[in-house]
This record gives sequence, structure tokens and C-alpha cells, in this order.
Amino acid sequence: MPMREIATKPYPDQRSGTAGLRKRVAVFQQPHYLENFLQSVFDSVPELRGHTLVIGGDGRYFNRQAIATAVAMAAANGVARVVVGQGGLLSTPAASHLIRLHRAAAGLIFTASHNPAGADGDFGVKLNVAGGGQASEGLTERIYEHSKSLGRYRILEGATVDLDRRGLQTLGAMELDVVDPVDEYARLMQKLFDFNRIREWLKAGHSLRYDALHAVTGPYAQRIFVEMLGAPLSSLQNANPLEDFGGIHPDPNLIHARHLHELAHSDRAPDLVAASDGDGDRNMILGRGIFVSPGDSLAFLAAHLKELPGYRDGLRGVARSMPTSRAVDKVAKAMAVDSYETPTGWKFFANLLEMDRINLCGEESFGTSSSHVREKDGIWAVLAWLNVLAATRLSVREVAERHWRHYGRHYYGRHDYEELPATAATTVMQDLARTLYDLPGRKFGEWEVGAADEFGYHDPVDGSLAVNQGLRVIFGDRARIVLRLSGTGTRGVTLRLYLERYEDHATALGWKTWEALAPLVNVAEQIARIGAITGRKAPSVVT
Ligand code: G1P
Ligand code: ZN
Repeated sequence: MPMREIATKPYPDQRSGTAGLRKRVAVFQQPHYLENFLQSVFDSVPELRGHTLVIGGDGRYFNRQAIATAVAMAAANGVARVVVGQGGLLSTPAASHLIRLHRAAAGLIFTASHNPAGADGDFGVKLNVAGGGQASEGLTERIYEHSKSLGRYRILEGATVDLDRRGLQTLGAMELDVVDPVDEYARLMQKLFDFNRIREWLKAGHSLRYDALHAVTGPYAQRIFVEMLGAPLSSLQNANPLEDFGGIHPDPNLIHARHLHELAHSDRAPDLVAASDGDGDRNMILGRGIFVSPGDSLAFLAAHLKELPGYRDGLRGVARSMPTSRAVDKVAKAMAVDSYETPTGWKFFANLLEMDRINLCGEESFGTSSSHVREKDGIWAVLAWLNVLAATRLSVREVAERHWRHYGRHYYGRHDYEELPATAATTVMQDLARTLYDLPGRKFGEWEVGAADEFGYHDPVDGSLAVNQGLRVIFGDRARIVLRLSGTGTRGVTLRLYLERYEDHATALGWKTWEALAPLVNVAEQIARIGAITGRKAPSVVT
């Protein structure tokens, strides 16, 4: 098989966002587009020469083709061994685990996460590094800079790769190991959670409904929930991965998984209702008659962590992304452990996990995980909840209400303004940035601004600095408004407004979220003038 160097012209738009390079499928289908980006990766991660690369994807349209290309290019770029999930499938957390397990130099995960799939949908490439975490800002930037001047790429021509046959194949001097996507991941989960207890809980008549949204987690759910834990097959829905995710928008939240909200509020509601996203790193949790907001879920799991076998030593420290509700900070304080506030995106948690400063972390965007991998983990979160329910014998609602009575309640909402013209979105941000420092001391309704700033993060482990990570207006302990621009959208610009209100009075604990947040929505409009500037009467999505 000949190794070929192919001349190419660079593409100027290969800068990765919050979670890798994400574009419409049509963009990736341009001649040499994917090859260029991958060559830039191979050139920028020289550690891959002579070492192992893990490859997988969420199964969406273009996944197999992209993996075949990546494998042929790995062989031509001196990679010694590629470990790939059978059928090209690996959930993002399972890929992170395999990188760690095989001491791989890097991993390539083909996914556009929760964005719709299919020929008209999105595609993406995520680069993870040794240790299993996402590429750093610095590396991402180097790859982008290099991609702009790339003149050739290397590929093994005529390579035939059988992604469906488990076991070893050889490609030139490279070894290709096609592995079951679930085996090792399931083994890891078994070490962390009390499978016997969950099995008994299910046997005693408790019920689970898990929706894989026709994305990557289907086989994981089938093996773990059904085969290992004994849940009936009817506990799963949409469990076969499809290239277009069956037309579903695989984003488990109250908008795109409205049907689960309805199920949880119906008279046939199971004890636990859950879902994950396209690549298996997000999670949505509901109980009978209750939706658990991701910030609350993080706080509840922090409070119950030591009841889970893999975490018997309890909470070591916790981290949340800046816009995520401060509910978990209360738990950390009560347990006298550190809580870190990081920029949006999972990569900022990796250093803290690596240095053992934290063992739990989460984001408001339906992401929760722990020290077991370096990514957020949907199935892990569902298992953690199953284990908490089985260990405490409480319902989801009881877990929540006990927590709120003890710590108070953080009402939380995120308002997304999607597909804005770039000028409107930047005007909102710039106008607020200009007036930000005049806000402290001003009163809006019942809240007084304590502090307002542009969030920056100084990594306590590697000393790196991340600036421009969103604008925040903080009304002391009682409320908070945050604004930032999305780094994952593929159409126009998405502006996100995050609202948080804290109450600790018994009478205020049972309000409806939208009622509790309504006055804060007005305050946000006075301060940020999103409606006035963009002309939008309402956000596109509220979660
Ligand atoms: C969004 C979420 C963020 C998450 C990322 C990847 O990024 O807000 O929390 O880490 O997707 O799943 P954003 O579009 O806001 O930049
Ligand atoms: Zn995802």
C-alpha cells in the first residue's frame, strides 16, 4: 500500500470552538477539508508517532467515512496503533476512558454532540490528548494556525479497513485494533457503582426509562441497564443508533426531550426518567413529577457522593463552569472542600481532576462527571442517580426537597438567542461590557448589584489564563445574571443569558421555576437590553 503526499490548499475556517471543530456536513464534504484538519492535528501532536491513537464517533452521517480517512492518515503519519470502536462507535466518555486505559497519545472523536445529524446536519472532530481530556486552548490554537498554511497531507492509499470485524488488522506498519465500544466502559462503571443494590432496587419494582435518542448510547444502555442490571427491555427507547438520529435533535433538555418531561409528569411515570445526547456525554434527569436542573443534579450528587462505592472517601473538591448555578458551592462549603469556578467547556476541569483537587464537576448544559474520565458522562450520571435512589430509598422528588430544605434552592434558567446576526450579538456584549463597572451598588427590584465583571480564569494548575469568558452581574448570594456567546453553534451567533435566583425560606422552596425567575428576566432586560438591541421578543430556547 503506497503512502502518498497529496497537495492541498488550506482552509481558513478550521478554528475549534468550545468542543472541537464543528461545521455543517457539507463543509466537511469539501475536497480535502477533513484531511487538512487531520494533517494539522498529526503535525501538531508529534507524540502520536510510534504511539497509540484512539478513534471513535457518535455514529452520525459521515462517521464511517471520516474514520476510514483518519485511520488511513494515521498509518501514513507514523502512528503505531489505532484503537477504534466497532462500527466506528465510541461515546465521548468511553473514548476518554480508552485513551487512559491504553495510555494513548491522543484520541479523535467524530461528533457534533447534541447537534442534529444527517446529510443536512452537523459533523465535528474533537481532539483529546494523553490522559483523556480535550486539547488545551494552546494546542487548539496551534492546530488552527498550522491549518492555515498547510500545503499537503499524508495518507495510505488503497487501505481497506473493516470497522465491523473485532480484533487486529494491519495497515502498512500500523496495527488497527477494533474493540467492542462498551466492554471496558461497562467494566469501569461496575467498579464505581453498587450494581447489586441497583439490581435489587429494580427487582423490587422500581422503574427506569432511558432514551438514547437514536444516538451513540443505545448499546451502552442495552448492556448496562438491561443485561447487567436486569432492567426490562421496555426501560429503553430509541436505543438503536441511526445515522440521522432518526431525525431527533439529540439534545436532552426540556425543549428537545419534551416527551420525557411529559412522561415524568404522567400517571405512568417511572421512578427515574433519563436521556443522553448524541455522543453520550450529556444527561437529563427527571423523577416522578419533577425535572432536576443540571446545577441541582450536581449539588445533589455532591451531597450523596460518599454513598457511591467508587467515592467512599467523599467529596474531595468540586468544580462548575461559571454560568452553572451556585447550588453546589453550598454543599462544598458545608463539607469544607474547595469549589472551583471555571470557564465554559469541559477542558478546564481536566487539570483540577488530574491534580486531585476535585473529584466531581458539572455544567449547566446537562453535563456531569467525575474523576473516572476526563469528559462529562451521561450514562455515569444516570447510574449515579440510580445508585443514590437505591441507596437512600428516596424518590427523586424526596432527594430534591430534602436538599432544598437543608441548603436552600437555586432557581435556574438559560435563555438562548439563536442565529443572531453577529453585529447584534456583539453589540449586546459590548454595550454591557462598557457599562458593567458602573453597576455595583445599583438596585434592580429587590436585588442590589454586588459585583459585575468580565470573567477570566487563571488555571491554578498550569498557570494559563483564559480571558473573555462571559459577563456576569452578581447580586451577592441572592441572584446572578450571566451573558456569553456560544462557541459551539454552526449557524449565526448564539447569545446565552443565564439566570439564577437563590431562596432559603421554606415558603419559597416550592415555587415554579419560571415564576421565580420572571422578575429576574425583567432585570436582565434592563441591564443587557437583549430584546431592545436584537429585536427579539423572546429567546429561541429556554432550558
Ligand atoms: C455548550 C455548552 C457548554 C458545553 C459545550 C459542549 O457550549 O454551553 O457548557 O461544554 O456546549 O457540550 P457553548 O455553545 O455554550 O459554547
Ligand atoms: Zn455531547
